[in-house]
Amino acid sequence: MYKIFFILFITSEVIFCFPKFVQKRTNDANLNSGPEELAQRFGFYCESHEVITDDGYVLTVHRIKSAKIKPKQNAVVVLVPGFLAASETWLFRGPDKDLPYVFANNGYDVWICNPRGNYFSRKHTTLNPDVDVSFWNFSIHEHGVYDLPAVVDYTLNVTKEDSVYFFGHSIGAAAFFIMCAEKPQYNVKIKLANALAPAAIVSQPLTSFTQFLLSLIPPLMKFLKFNGIHEMFPRGGFYPLLGQVLCQDGAITQALCLSLIFAVVGTSSDQFNRTMLPEALGYYPTGTSIDVFNHLYDIFVTKRFGPLYASTEYTLELVTAPVALHYGDGDGLISKEDNEILSKRLRNAVGIFKVPYRNFNHIDFMWSIDSKILLYDHLISLMKLYK
Ligand SMILES: *[C@@H]1O[C@H](CO)[C@@H](O)[C@H](O)[C@H]1NC(C)=O
Ligand SMILES: *[C@@H]1O[C@H](CO)[C@@H](O)[C@H](O)[C@H]1NC(C)=O
Ligand SMILES: *[C@@H]1O[C@H](CO)[C@@H](O)[C@H](O)[C@H]1NC(C)=O
Repeated sequence: MYKIFFILFITSEVIFCFPKFVQKRTNDANLNSGPEELAQRFGFYCESHEVITDDGYVLTVHRIKSAKIKPKQNAVVVLVPGFLAASETWLFRGPDKDLPYVFANNGYDVWICNPRGNYFSRKHTTLNPDVDVSFWNFSIHEHGVYDLPAVVDYTLNVTKEDSVYFFGHSIGAAAFFIMCAEKPQYNVKIKLANALAPAAIVSQPLTSFTQFLLSLIPPLMKFLKFNGIHEMFPRGGFYPLLGQVLCQDGAITQALCLSLIFAVVGTSSDQFNRTMLPEALGYYPTGTSIDVFNHLYDIFVTKRFGPLYASTEYTLELVTAPVALHYGDGDGLISKEDNEILSKRLRNAVGIFKVPYRNFNHIDFMWSIDSKILLYDHLISLMKLYK
């Protein structure tokens, strides 16, 4: 059943990914509000900043400020979302639920990075993403080596500070380790990094369904590349629309949507708000390159955390910034054991923390109903220990 559904949606994605459709796609204003409007709705400001990387990518960084509370000194926070996510992933639920608002309300100056290739960072100084194939020649490696350093330097320059707090979810955390391993001079610019379910070292076996999905990546990506497709799951594609219809409350197919999601991210926890799913699909996914998929294959299947198309591994021993690792016991992708192995290689792992909720899974780190009480308050108390 899963397989049929999956093949159906991949087929439709293939059709709708063709560049001619990409150009025709209109701005999907009916699907979602932009980050400025979302922030305003909840009593916050969102500033958009453009950051140019050393290799010419133009990234949009969203800075979230409370309308009431002035940011403290020494309190710059950089957030990096996970796979196929963007800043809005953390902005549409509201002030007592979303990480940036919770932090801003506690006096932090919050900057959310949109890694290259997603909806907000589909721009380059010389390359056109709709025409130039080489725009899409990047993996998680480039997120770590170019995007994050550029964003950290930019925020430090604007705020006149000398270090930031860092948060990364899943591959956002992986990009952090890549930055600090490949450009160790960035370690001193980090007060504390919180790695939420980091997708870096994955030693544990995955479920057979996830294995099956992942095993499709290399042949599928080859096929797509051969057919001139280099961008995967851009916003406004067919899949979110289909998802919105199939996954809404009252749809008989909602159970199927949910079991598909939980088959990948882990056990179903009651921290997931199914009513929110159609809205969430207006903000997720937001697009990336085929090589990011290939990089995931390396991490999860080959179990090698190194640059794509190489045989080397990242030297995690060069990560000397303080890092707190977080996991959920219902996460089907990242386990406690993975965090333990990772922490032994990092030079300054300050703790491995289990989210205190049964069956907390991979997307609960993004969207759990009680995220503030279960996770964000704890993150803030950890930050206070590292000035
Ligand atoms: C893609 O990037 C890699 C490394 O940055 C480079 O070696 C390679 O030649 C590039 N390939 C294309 C097709 O631009
Ligand atoms: C820092 O910001 C100033 C403007 O505020 C700009 O002129 C300068 O180029 C920036 N420096 C870097 C390294 O980004
Ligand atoms: C679940 O999501 C819906 C729609 O966004 C919202 O109205 C409701 O308050 C949410 N429930 C909880 C428990 O957060």
